[in-house]
Amino acid sequence: MRGSGTKVVFTCQACGHQVGKWLGRCPQCGGWNTLAEEVVGPRGGWGEVSLPPPRSSPQPLVQMAPPKECRQTSGLSEFDRVLGGSLVAGSVVLLGGDPGIGKSTLVLQVCDRFCQNGLTVLYLSGEESEAQLKLRAQRLGLRSATLLVATETCLENLIKFVEQVRPDILAVDSIQTLYTATLPAAPGSLPQVRETAFRLTQQAKLSDMAVFLIGHVTKEGAIAGPMALEHLVDTVLYLEGDRSHAFRLLRTVKNRFGPTQELGVFEMQDAGLVEVTNPSALFMAERTQEVPGSVVVPSLEGSRPILVEVQALVSPSPLALPRRQSRGLDPGRVSLLVAVMEKRVGLGFSGQDVFVNVAGGVRLSEPAADLGVALALASSYLDRPVSRDTLVFGEIGLTGEVRAVAQPEIRLKEGQKLGFKRAVLARRHSERLGPLPGLELLGVETLAEAIKLTLGSS
Ligand code: TYD
Ligand code: MG
Repeated sequence: MRGSGTKVVFTCQACGHQVGKWLGRCPQCGGWNTLAEEVVGPRGGWGEVSLPPPRSSPQPLVQMAPPKECRQTSGLSEFDRVLGGSLVAGSVVLLGGDPGIGKSTLVLQVCDRFCQNGLTVLYLSGEESEAQLKLRAQRLGLRSATLLVATETCLENLIKFVEQVRPDILAVDSIQTLYTATLPAAPGSLPQVRETAFRLTQQAKLSDMAVFLIGHVTKEGAIAGPMALEHLVDTVLYLEGDRSHAFRLLRTVKNRFGPTQELGVFEMQDAGLVEVTNPSALFMAERTQEVPGSVVVPSLEGSRPILVEVQALVSPSPLALPRRQSRGLDPGRVSLLVAVMEKRVGLGFSGQDVFVNVAGGVRLSEPAADLGVALALASSYLDRPVSRDTLVFGEIGLTGEVRAVAQPEIRLKEGQKLGFKRAVLARRHSERLGPLPGLELLGVETLAEAIKLTLGSS
């Protein structure tokens, strides 16, 4: 029985919009079947609500004491970098990713590292039993005495644990299994996820405890309803990767304490995730012989350059509507490059299937990859290879012009380190940078010029 004064509302699990009656489609975001029933408490709340003590009274900003040293590194450089260098005390980090990608493994390993540095960590698992946790710890070879684990899913009990143990770091695996007894909604529902995450965030700020929240990605590709958590936490990381590949990429989507778009690279092995500190070398080692359709692009993910191989395959299509498929690249961007090549260079892609792939499961989002993708397409179309020791980068405009991109020096240096001899880039860069030891710079103004230079034709 619902108490008097309670009310039922229907909340969209995707955008949070509320309506008074059930509808098949959310009037705000247009999502189908996203409205779920929620009970709203009486005006005065659910009864015994304990108010938190006021944190502090207002004070002049200039007179506030500077914070004590409150950042900690884990010692796993691939992980520290995506956090912006180190973990800030009192911050909340959300780690999202597909089920089975390695989130629990990563967080356990990282927590163990922090313990080795003298911190106390409380790891709460609502997903696995104690026996499963023990087996995993053995597999990962974890031995820290200050890594405490518990299998608890009730927020109120969790907060009691936190008050007893006073950990430096709290890890919650996963936020979808946590529930607060003060809300009648099911664990994993938007109101529960929102409320538990909010209360943990408050707890983190109050006690200067860093919190890792693990969150599953829903099938729409967002963590528990798109806007539900990301604005609440300080840092959002996504662990991605192809399940068929051993590489796992940890990406910073939001960070209040450092740059976004940082990338950490790991490899899933038998004893957990292992850092890949030189991913360029690893990706380049996988390259095959000099074949048409393969081009190396020095992409800049956050502050670190990574050389990746872009592969294209253009082949006559039996279909009336030829296929356009891309993996690791925005399909819209690939279509645009195909259109520019048809119109400005005169390569006819109609009647051809076009497949583009970034090797190693990496996703390229910066326009600096344009020229590399276009040359890979042209190389496959003309069936002539781009020489193996050539790097390619530059943005392509709608008129087929090649534009300068950010930080060419860092990209070129990475290429030099791995023994590349030639770089095709925007002329503005090549004129400014002048000759570099061991690396010939081929400046181009248009895509047609780049094709002529690398493939001997346009
Ligand atoms: P897990 O961390 O449980 O994923 P998530 O928490 O994101 O759901 O990782 C599960 C996968 O990782 C599983 O398929 C087994 C694999 N794995 C290894 O290959 N090596 C290991 O040492 C561990 C612990 C897991
Ligand atoms: Mg897990």
